[in-house]
Amino acid sequence: MKHLPFDALMELESGVIDEASQVINRRLSDMPSFFHDQDAVQAQLEEDPVLYRTYVKQNPISSSLWNIGSSVIEPGTVGNEYFMTKGHFHLKEEAPEVYFTVSGSGRLLLQKHSGEIEVKKMAPGVINYIPGGWAHRTVNVGEKPLIFFAVWPADAGHNYGAIEEMGFSRLVVNDRGVPKIIDNPRYAPGLVK
Ligand SMILES: [Fe+2]
Repeated sequence: MKHLPFDALMELESGVIDEASQVINRRLSDMPSFFHDQDAVQAQLEEDPVLYRTYVKQNPISSSLWNIGSSVIEPGTVGNEYFMTKGHFHLKEEAPEVYFTVSGSGRLLLQKHSGEIEVKKMAPGVINYIPGGWAHRTVNVGEKPLIFFAVWPADAGHNYGAIEEMGFSRLVVNDRGVPKIIDNPRYAPGLVK
């Protein structure tokens, strides 16, 4: 197969990538179990807000190729927990990823299977490098959309199930207007190897 150079335009205001081959819209109803306050989830399911969108320009699945994409996480909370992505390990565990934040304010949760965790800031101009083996979740802690560009190996794949069952050991919550990192009471590291 012949691979040709291509260009893409990411609208900086909206985060939309033109001619994306895949657009993912995640609403609260797509991920109700990911939030810790289940009463708040039930209360907000009727409105069912869009939490985030991801635009992907996919290459054929190959270890020598990269996908490019952008994500836009809306501002808001479910209870006191900020809107966030599901978070995932890569199926190909060693596959890394790079984020470049264009606008907004966020946190990047990184967690290994061993439970080791790091929390990084996301702000315009910040480049986050995610090594292989680290699950990654992004959280919008600001009042406008968090928009970032991402690049990852085309054969990385996504493993959402491990995080759905295990959770991250920390939550990012709005504490009277200030983002705060707290322990996740539902964290269950023993469930998934
Ligand atoms: Fe990823």
